[in-house]
Amino acid sequence: ESIHAAIVAKGKQYFGTCADQGRLSQGQNAAVIKSAFGQVTGENSMKWESVQRTQGQFTFSQADYLANFAAENNLLIRGHTTVWHSQLPSWVSQIRDRQTLTNVMTTHINTVMGRYKGKILHWDVINEMLEENGGFRSSVFYNVLGEDFVRIAFETARAADPDAKLYINDYNLDQASYAKTQGMVRNVKKWIAAGIPIDGIGSQGHLTSGQGSNAPAAMAALCGAAPECALTEVDIQNAQASDWQGIVRACMQQKNCVGITVWGVRDQDSWRPQGNPLLFDSNYRPKNHYTTVLQAINSS
Ligand code: G3I
Repeated sequence: ESIHAAIVAKGKQYFGTCADQGRLSQGQNAAVIKSAFGQVTGENSMKWESVQRTQGQFTFSQADYLANFAAENNLLIRGHTTVWHSQLPSWVSQIRDRQTLTNVMTTHINTVMGRYKGKILHWDVINEMLEENGGFRSSVFYNVLGEDFVRIAFETARAADPDAKLYINDYNLDQASYAKTQGMVRNVKKWIAAGIPIDGIGSQGHLTSGQGSNAPAAMAALCGAAPECALTEVDIQNAQASDWQGIVRACMQQKNCVGITVWGVRDQDSWRPQGNPLLFDSNYRPKNHYTTVLQAINSS
């Protein structure tokens, strides 16, 4: 039984996973994605270093592959990500001048989002901009433009694809009382009140054993700060059933949580394979945790 179909039956938009051409052309990944999932997020193919490694030279072959796979198989797409300090070419991180960086950032957003205009459900417009203490991470965007980079990025994104929901995405937002979670809530409320077009908060959800029980309260806080919210990159190292139950409930209990994305199909293909963090085993068979997720959705 498909976890995507189950979650849609409960009023959510998707259960998704990350994927790119490499994985999609390997083994049973494409078949598993078509049967269990309803949304794909580019694991790497839409990031800055993938699409504009050299200034002005855009390469979309990998991103197009993903977009075409999604279109052919009726899958939604989360666009990941336009503005991020990591996987960012050094020609960008070396910029020290406000006007140059503004032009470079807006050109990047316009070109990437423009190419897939109307085809992407969500864009992670800004990824991982906060420090663990809830303050702003030092990045070329923050250091050169200050907090203004948030407004510039979201306003540019809104104009580039008015139909896409625009997200701010981050990790370690898994506990309500944690300073970073509170910093996200505080800042997003402030930015939305100031008219910055943010539609949603994405909580990545990279967890380890025992953390799932905190997820519902954390999502309640995040989902209260924006029109919508999502769990965007879930994996749980050494998970107990209660961890997967907690993460599923965290979304199901919030009316405006639109869906859950896991960060990969098979354990061994995870960016951190230790602790078997995903829902499928090495033979592409659904693990017990898959059944746990399905039951948690169906009983919510
Ligand atoms: O593209 C090069 C390729 O040319 C080279 O041959 C190969 C050799 O190692 O490396 C390739 O780059 C790798 C890239 O994935 C594409 O496969 C990088 O080394 C590797 O570091 C990179 O890892 C990705 C990581 O983001 C980078 O920060 C992971 O696959 C990806 O799962 C991970 O995803 C991030 C999210 O985007 C944001 N949140 C955290 C999450 C986990 O780190």
